[in-house]
This record gives sequence, structure tokens and C-alpha cells, in this order.
Amino acid sequence: MIAKPNDWVFSDPRLKEMKQEYEAYTEEDFKVWKILFERQIVNLPDAATKAYLEGIKEINFSSDRIADFEEVNQKLANTTGWAIQVVPGLIDDDLFFGLMFNKRFPSSTWLRKMEQLDYLEEPDMFHDAFAHMPMLTNQPYVDFLQQLSGIALKHIDNKMAIELISRIYWFTIEFGLIREEGELKIYGAGILSSAGETKFSLSEEPAHYQYDVRKILNTPYWKNKFQDKYFIIESYEQLFASLPEIESALEEMLEELTNKEQKIN
Ligand SMILES: [Fe+2]
Repeated sequence: MIAKPNDWVFSDPRLKEMKQEYEAYTEEDFKVWKILFERQIVNLPDAATKAYLEGIKEINFSSDRIADFEEVNQKLANTTGWAIQVVPGLIDDDLFFGLMFNKRFPSSTWLRKMEQLDYLEEPDMFHDAFAHMPMLTNQPYVDFLQQLSGIALKHIDNKMAIELISRIYWFTIEFGLIREEGELKIYGAGILSSAGETKFSLSEEPAHYQYDVRKILNTPYWKNKFQDKYFIIESYEQLFASLPEIESALEEMLEELTNKEQKIN
């Protein structure tokens, strides 16, 4: 295989020139944003990680204005150097990780309708913006995300490897918890955009485990109900520092799987 340049993703034909058309948002869109924003923001001062609370101030989101990606990009340029890349919705894994390896966070621009306030088949821009973008102001967090994407790109043709890396992404970026001053707080975006899971994830009901790369790699997840387990980090530096272990544990698991397959055949 010929190594692709790191920025191949920008000339990929699947990545159409897409922009957020701010003027196209309707009155209903503004209402939906406002309802979701106001309903969730009140839960977060006690529940969200400091990094998120500082981040949402930094990028200046409010209930009255749907997030404007141009403004977000200006703020991010001054903090971590990341930017938002508009995408049509769910995208192929190589594009997804390729963008993040190049410090571009893929986001959709459409908003759910009033009748879909609580259930969505795939993430809309309320999830992508409200829940993900504030965290993109935190340097060790984005460094982790970028390097994890780099590991994914190395294994992009191996379905099993991508499934295993997705478990790490899932139990950190989407559903991660952190301990801050002895208290559990949320940094996972899948929780931060859900009022129900915000309460549930911090309650006694689900299992809470210390962050453990190997355990996560062995833990399948589900997409359409609350998780039954969450993993707790102590700091974002811990995430970043775990990258070599992610890489070596992944390689060991893949080797074991290949050996098993060879025995069966
Ligand atoms: Fe997400």
C-alpha cells in the first residue's frame, strides 16, 4: 500500500464543499435549539466537567442563537487550532478519522424537528455543536482525539480494528466520565446532549469503572439505549498518556484474533 499524505482527506471527492447556511435556519429551528439548550444547560453546572463549562463560555453559545460555525472556528483557531468541517451526516470511517487527524471535527448542520426532541436516529447539529464543540477547546483532549484517529487510520482497512477503536471513542469521547475534586463529572458528548442520560450516568444505577484500555477494548457498546457501564478518567492528560497502551493492546488483540482464525481454518 502506498502511504497517503496526511492531508489526503481535503481532496477526497466524498468531501463536497459544504457550508453551514445560517440564513436557511427556520423559526422552528431556532425554537428547537432554544428548547434543547435551555432544557439541558440547567443540568450542567453540577454535572459537566470544568473543561466543558469553560469551553461553552469560551465559544459563546447561547439559547437564542443557533451555533454559528464561522464564529466557532474563530474561537477554536485561537485556542487549540481545530476547526469544524461540515459533513452531510454519518460519514465513512476513513473520512471521519482522516478529518480528525487533520484537526477538523465533522459536524452536520441540520437540526431535529420539534416532534423529534427526544429521539434521533443519527446525531444532529445540536448534539455535534452543543455537546462536542465546547470540548474542542481543551488541548489534551483534542490531542488525544487526533492521535486516536491516527491509530485508526493505520488500521483503516481492518474492520475488527476499527470496531475496537470505536469502543475507545465511544467510552471516552461520547460516554466518558471524569473525576474532578472527588466528584464524578461528564465529558462524553453523548451524555452531555441528553438530559436523561446526564442524570442516569451519574446515578448509582449503572456500573462505574476506572478507565482501563484493555477492559474498554473488550466491551461492546449499544447505540439506542443508555449505557449500563461508564469508564472514569482522572484527567485528560491520562487519556493522552494511554495512547501507546491503546496501540499495543490493539495490536495484541488483533494478533490473537488472526491466530484463532488460522487455527480454525
Ligand atoms: Fe457525537
